[in-house]
Amino acid sequence: MPRTSPDQASLDAIAAEARGCTRCPLYQAATQTVFGEGPADALVVFVGEQPGDQEDRQGRPFVGPAGRIFDKALAEAGIPRDRTYITNAVKHFKFAPRGKRRLHKSPNAYEIDRCKWWLDRELALIQPRLTVALGATAARALAGRPFPIGQNRGRILAFPNGLRGLVTVHPSALLRVPDQEARHRAYAEFVKDLVVVAGAVAGAAAA
Ligand code: URA
Repeated sequence: MPRTSPDQASLDAIAAEARGCTRCPLYQAATQTVFGEGPADALVVFVGEQPGDQEDRQGRPFVGPAGRIFDKALAEAGIPRDRTYITNAVKHFKFAPRGKRRLHKSPNAYEIDRCKWWLDRELALIQPRLTVALGATAARALAGRPFPIGQNRGRILAFPNGLRGLVTVHPSALLRVPDQEARHRAYAEFVKDLVVVAGAVAGAAAA
């Protein structure tokens, strides 16, 4: 079936609308909405959890430490970041202040569900060939229920609304593996999952 022509201006308009989002209380403490980024005709959409400290300051997804390891893995898998659309399940940074630091707090089910409204609009407009959940929060948002990563990762599956997808770990999980050897293994597994993404997207583009 031919893809309907995605409209960058419509996507930009949704992003502009999201800047004033008050659908859940997270907007109150965050610096700004961090909306998705990338071309409206992207074949693959990556969905993370929520912006971190750096993303909240810069207003762009995946530009902090998790973003750096994600960029490296994308490059190794042969996926050009600027041809993908990268977004988050939750568009405001949730944190607990600790002195001068802001410690990440996981979004709850209510916040994920409220923010799904934006994710649904991004996906409806882009109509990607593949939607990739990075970690449990994104998988929960896309599946509409808790969705274990371990037993489902790295293979093409269908989310309930028929969306073709894949789940894998969140890149920040790789940064938390304490043992160096285990960290290298976890990173290699992540790249392997992204290679599956690259293959699926290449197949879809050729079809
Ligand atoms: N972690 C995420 O899930 N998203 C970001 O944008 C940054 C870190």
